[in-house]
Amino acid sequence: MTIALDPHLYRDFDWYQRERFSVWSNQWLMFCSESEVADDGSYVAAEIADFPVVVARRPGGELVGFLNVCPHRAGPILWPGQGVTGNLVCRYHGWAFNWGGDLVSARDFGDSPDLCPEQRSLTTIDVASWCGMVFIRIGEGTSSLMDDLGGLPAVVEQFPVDKFRFVRRMVRTLECNWKTYVDNYLEGYHVQLIHPSLTRALDMRTYRVSVPEDGYCHHTCDTTEGSPSGGAWLFRYPNLALNIYADGMNVERIIPVGANRTHVVYDYYSESGSESDIEAMLAMSNVVLDEDQAMCEQVQRAIDSGAYRGGPLSPKHEIAVAWFQKRLVDEVH
Ligand code: FES
Ligand SMILES: [Fe+2]
Repeated sequence: MTIALDPHLYRDFDWYQRERFSVWSNQWLMFCSESEVADDGSYVAAEIADFPVVVARRPGGELVGFLNVCPHRAGPILWPGQGVTGNLVCRYHGWAFNWGGDLVSARDFGDSPDLCPEQRSLTTIDVASWCGMVFIRIGEGTSSLMDDLGGLPAVVEQFPVDKFRFVRRMVRTLECNWKTYVDNYLEGYHVQLIHPSLTRALDMRTYRVSVPEDGYCHHTCDTTEGSPSGGAWLFRYPNLALNIYADGMNVERIIPVGANRTHVVYDYYSESGSESDIEAMLAMSNVVLDEDQAMCEQVQRAIDSGAYRGGPLSPKHEIAVAWFQKRLVDEVH
């Protein structure tokens, strides 16, 4: 019998630091929507697993990414948020960088400060796009994004995603470790207990969870007759969930903020774009997300209390939870 992950790993600061440097800095991570960085000089500056990151559209061309940390004394090149910039000048003391991240001028240091390469460049990171989403990889890596996505794009392309348009964003702050939220996402065992409206829309006898060889998780379920909920629920390690339906989708980004808090960004896409369709999608989604959030936060409080030791995972319902937890433990060093 597989036993759930040691509860200590859901609240320990040192373990979280190890996750940051062995998982979050080595994986391709969904960072923003391509539409947010479509124009020359447009940028998104945000933290992901507490790493300050910028992705920007270099004037005349490609996307660039770098850590939003000046090599002088760690000032921000861009304040967190979105916007358009014509140059990369540190907000603290005014060092200027080109779009490749190299120092152009160190204000009032004289003409040629004697600096080693690490002291004169921003740390650049990998950037790649797929399906209107921009991904980053902070650390060293050799595999391309498409190689890493494996069979996931083929599943997504069974839906008319190229007709979907971004319509709304919602951000939730959950008082729980990021893994508590992911564990919950990865099983349908709880659906009949905590999601009454979703249960009415789904034929729960047909609920299936699979973990294909190439490393993403796939839930499917038939709908009860006439329900609009049929689709695919896909999770790509470590932080991307795609909830795709015939007429729209909800893209979730799970972002740790320290060991005991998690931001989840929900981007909603719709084919019709009609206000009534959008409102109906958001209303149903919010009911389910409120139910999940309440349970995740309750579970986290129980874990934090020290009263839980780690129980058995169901071979029928929780195979994806077991897959996720094993992969995480194997990767953290
Ligand atoms: S911290 Fe950037 S110029 Fe000083
Ligand atoms: Fe749920």
